[in-house]
Amino acid sequence: MNKGKHVVLGVTGSIAAYKAAELVRMIRACGCEVSVVMTQAATHFIGVLTMQTLSRNPVAIDMFEPTGQWCPEHVALADRADALVIAPCTAGAIARMAQGLADDLLTCIVLATRAPVIIVPAMNDNMLGHPAVQTNLETLKARGVTVVDAVSGELVCGREGKGRMAPLEATMKTLKAVLHLD
Ligand SMILES: Cc1cc2nc3c(=O)[nH]c(=O)nc-3n(C[C@H](O)[C@H](O)[C@H](O)COP(=O)(O)O)c2cc1C
Repeated sequence: MNKGKHVVLGVTGSIAAYKAAELVRMIRACGCEVSVVMTQAATHFIGVLTMQTLSRNPVAIDMFEPTGQWCPEHVALADRADALVIAPCTAGAIARMAQGLADDLLTCIVLATRAPVIIVPAMNDNMLGHPAVQTNLETLKARGVTVVDAVSGELVCGREGKGRMAPLEATMKTLKAVLHLD
């Protein structure tokens, strides 16, 4: 029943990026295919080999990497996506999306896809609470982007506050609802 759904998972440069590996496994367990797109920053936090092996698909990072296909990778992935999930989603990625920038592979896919977009912010509590970030999140919500809210708890900076990436179960619940999965 769920077979054939294709989820593009964007991973950005947050310390929470290691959780994206488990998210790949959970999405695949629902019968979906997963293609991972990483920002350059994300590659500092989680191995490309890990994401490639768990997703069973090549990981796309570089806009200009020859793929052997005639269709640009950002358009091919954007068209194939039934849903685009960005988890974790950095303050930087949120800002670029809110501005409509197309300065890397992931932001190009955000603009090129007509699939539903789900973002899962993760960042320091002061970053999340900054008016610039809050305004950007409101802008994205107004455009129909679904935001899986960050939660409170211990942050990597050593403080307690709101900014931890939502539990993976919350993202899965949202994704299943969006894709009408069992
Ligand atoms: C150790 C470390 C952890 C970071 N964690 C986060 C984070 O959780 N959220 C965030 O928005 N930025 C975080 N950053 C900053 C981003 O990596 C930086 O803004 C980067 O340019 C984001 O690039 P991207 O949005 O293209 O992935 C962190 C940086 C470092 C060095």
